[in-house]
Amino acid sequence: MHVVIINGSPRVRKYSNTEKIIAAFAKGLSEKGGTFETYTISDRNTWDIIRDAYIKNDEILIALPLYVECVPGLLLEFLETLPRKDEYTRLSFLLQSGFAEGCQLRCGEEFLAKLPGYLGVRYGGCLVKGDNFGIRILGEEKQAQVTKPYQAMGELFAEGDGFFREEAKKFTGPEYFPLPVRLIVGLIFKTLGKKMFQKAAASWGCSVPLDEKVWEV
Ligand SMILES: Cc1cc2nc3c(=O)[nH]c(=O)nc-3n(C[C@H](O)[C@H](O)[C@H](O)COP(=O)(O)O)c2cc1C
Repeated sequence: MHVVIINGSPRVRKYSNTEKIIAAFAKGLSEKGGTFETYTISDRNTWDIIRDAYIKNDEILIALPLYVECVPGLLLEFLETLPRKDEYTRLSFLLQSGFAEGCQLRCGEEFLAKLPGYLGVRYGGCLVKGDNFGIRILGEEKQAQVTKPYQAMGELFAEGDGFFREEAKKFTGPEYFPLPVRLIVGLIFKTLGKKMFQKAAASWGCSVPLDEKVWEV
């Protein structure tokens, strides 16, 4: 199996969590004899090349982050440039996000399930998984540890059933956290979390409070 893997994140390759996830997934894929070529839509200058790969290949995987509960705008813009193909092409998705509960990725998944129909191609399923906010700020060793589960999904994908198998469905993890966990997470976000985000922002050069209002309304 030869797979064209497209990173649908607007973030440049170097800082993209999706990119690290793709690397682990592709490792699993190649360990099972699959081959791949990767692209990223964050560089508009490469869109013609990516479109060409989409046209010439029949196994396409778009890996993307959830942005504001759905598909990043830049990816939508790229998708609008794709021509219709036929059902010999299979289009699958790997949808990943920051927050961990599966339920908040379902709206994006619903959209993605419809997309192959709009493009005239076959749907290969959607792998859904959250809890990925921090990948890019981890050290290399920790990054490899956190993304390792995606390697097993690459191996599974190489077996040819897309993401329709039970293992892929279970990969999402909890659909909702139990109430006590939700309460604790809420409390952490209001207290410790706020301080942690402010500290992280300061380390990236932010000198104003995170709730600073640029415009008064
Ligand atoms: C503009 C923006 C919107 C986001 N919206 C959501 C969201 O609605 N739900 C969520 O769980 N994560 C959200 N995230 C977090 C990303 O999905 C997450 O950090 C992802 O791993 C980023 O992947 P990337 O670095 O490849 O872009 C958002 C991130 C950004 C920058």
